[in-house]
Amino acid sequence: MSTHREIAGKTICVTGASSGIGQAIAEHLGAKGGHVFLAGRTQASLDESAARIVEAGGAAEVATFDVADSPALQDWIRSAGESTGRLDVLVNNAGFGDVGSTIADGDPDVWRSMLEVNVLALAVGCQAAIRSMRATGSEGNIINISSVAAIRRESGVYGATKHAVNCINSSLRQELEGDPIRVTSIMPGVFATNFSRHLDRAVIESMAESVGIERLDFDEQGRLPAAQLEQFQAAMAPVYGDPQYIADTVEHVLTLPIEINIEELVIRPQRSLF
Ligand SMILES: NC(=O)c1ccc[n+]([C@@H]2O[C@H](COP(=O)([O-])OP(=O)(O)OC[C@H]3O[C@@H](n4cnc5c(N)ncnc54)[C@H](OP(=O)(O)O)[C@@H]3O)[C@@H](O)[C@H]2O)c1
Repeated sequence: MSTHREIAGKTICVTGASSGIGQAIAEHLGAKGGHVFLAGRTQASLDESAARIVEAGGAAEVATFDVADSPALQDWIRSAGESTGRLDVLVNNAGFGDVGSTIADGDPDVWRSMLEVNVLALAVGCQAAIRSMRATGSEGNIINISSVAAIRRESGVYGATKHAVNCINSSLRQELEGDPIRVTSIMPGVFATNFSRHLDRAVIESMAESVGIERLDFDEQGRLPAAQLEQFQAAMAPVYGDPQYIADTVEHVLTLPIEINIEELVIRPQRSLF
């Protein structure tokens, strides 16, 4: 029986590492000694995370591109493998939703973008990672960040993208039975991230008010300052989970022996809004 594996020294690619769940995963694995490649579109935030990783003893490299740009995504994954001689982990996390919008009134351009980012980029990323893991002879893990929307039938176009993520994940698990590559879909409930920038602002403001936060200082992209996000997160902890728990869960999956596949995990805070 093989032993648990270490994070230290692994080459780890994380998309959507500039915010929320992806940022928590990247920083956590970096602090465990991983060589983390962080991708997102917000340079400053990625640089801050990279600095924290280096300070904690890991290695970090930053790239900014849109994951819907398939050649950019493929090049980034391939070069991470080529430059380090291995590719141990891809976390397909970049994504967004229009939770709360209806099919009757939703915007088809937003749906197209959601499909490109949440589904197509995830599949392209998986393919590029498999090629790099095979080329470098690495034992690999692919972590796909899905959603509890994938286990509800009435979850709109966003939910449809996450049903597709689970479908891709399960198909890959079967395809890769002959390879030392494991595939896991993680389905978070509601976690305190900047995902809420895609929700109706009035809803967020009324939630904040209900826990005594009178004013929220959204920036132009709808992000909250880190201090306010932390305050909001602390006040809403029973219903808004801390993304750190998802990072801990990813670490657990990555340290299991390669011959075991955790195919799907649902992770929720204490009280469930969805
Ligand atoms: N938070 C929740 O309650 C929750 C629940 C279930 C599932 N999820 C899933 O968790 C994942 C992460 O979401 P989050 O909650 O952490 O949200 P978030 O704080 O808004 O972070 C989203 C990340 O994805 C990146 N991203 C989005 N579109 C991109 C694109 N086209 N190209 C490159 N990067 C892109 C963002 O980069 P920039 O900011 O640099 O643009 C950011 O780093 C998503 O797949 C989401 O569906 C979240």
